[in-house]
Amino acid sequence: MLYADFERAFEAQLQTRADSYSNAVEYHRIRFGQTIQYLLRSILEQTDALVQQPHAGWVRTEEVVSDILYCADVDIEQLFALEIPNELTADRDFEAVKTKLYETKYYPVGEHLNYISFPPALERKAFVAKHFSRFREDSYFCDLGFGPGVLTAFILQQDASWRAAGVDISRDCLRHAQRLLKKKAVLERSELSVADVRSLPYPDNAFDVVVAVEVLEHIPDPEVGLAEAMRVLKPGGYAITALPVQLPMLMHLCDFDTPDAVLALYEKVGLEVIDFETKEFQRQAGPFIDTFALSVNP
Ligand SMILES: C[S@@+](CC[C@H](N)C(=O)[O-])C[C@H]1O[C@@H](n2cnc3c(N)ncnc32)[C@H](O)[C@@H]1O
Repeated sequence: MLYADFERAFEAQLQTRADSYSNAVEYHRIRFGQTIQYLLRSILEQTDALVQQPHAGWVRTEEVVSDILYCADVDIEQLFALEIPNELTADRDFEAVKTKLYETKYYPVGEHLNYISFPPALERKAFVAKHFSRFREDSYFCDLGFGPGVLTAFILQQDASWRAAGVDISRDCLRHAQRLLKKKAVLERSELSVADVRSLPYPDNAFDVVVAVEVLEHIPDPEVGLAEAMRVLKPGGYAITALPVQLPMLMHLCDFDTPDAVLALYEKVGLEVIDFETKEFQRQAGPFIDTFALSVNP
């Protein structure tokens, strides 16, 4: 099954429920169910070919699933039965999204699952990898809104001299991410905590690199979060950021209409953009664009 078919099936299901977009739990229930089905169908469809000729994709899928089971401390049956709190009807309100969505065991699992095949998630990883050369020996980086910790672990695995700090607003994400770092044997080079990106528990000029991938759109005032990121970034340090355009979702509390609006935000806080990529992804409801940037704090 191609990913585009999955997206079409997902959108079709959404449209059968008029209230889905105004009800975050319903949206996520459908998305989660579809993602699991997509995963299983893809695995079944590939099984014959994989048995004949083992493919890297199989190994990677198996690894991500095994990571998820370990991080969430569940077996397959429990994974399928993961509960999303029913009372959640977050209407683009930060406190409601935080307490009723991010603070669930389900949330980091759902985000982690995206790294099997969700093209925007794979693009994020590829963009980070594209700029590994900006991390020097002994680099100290900060992952803002680390979610399931996939990117944090991925970066730490590249070089044994690199160290990470990071914050996320969700305790469930912290628990999940720390287990992932432990499984990847990089936990001792990290210090993750629960905090708000708008008020970071670090001194000025603390980091060589800050990573803020798909997090600033989750707060109503992304400029405040980015200014904090700048405060803790050394002069000459690099920022790796990703922001979606035209992707209104309940947990996205700030909408960017165009890539230029994203660039204007970077310019406003004084970042100098070195590399800016835009990628368009198709959905039945219309395309959306993800933007990826490498910038320097001049
Ligand atoms: C879409 S996920 C991105 C996770 C990760 N950066 C990645 O790309 O895989 C967004 C994350 O931002 C976190 N978040 C939302 N608002 C936040 C805030 N004000 N401060 C810190 N983290 C926040 C959420 O808990 C969630 O884990």
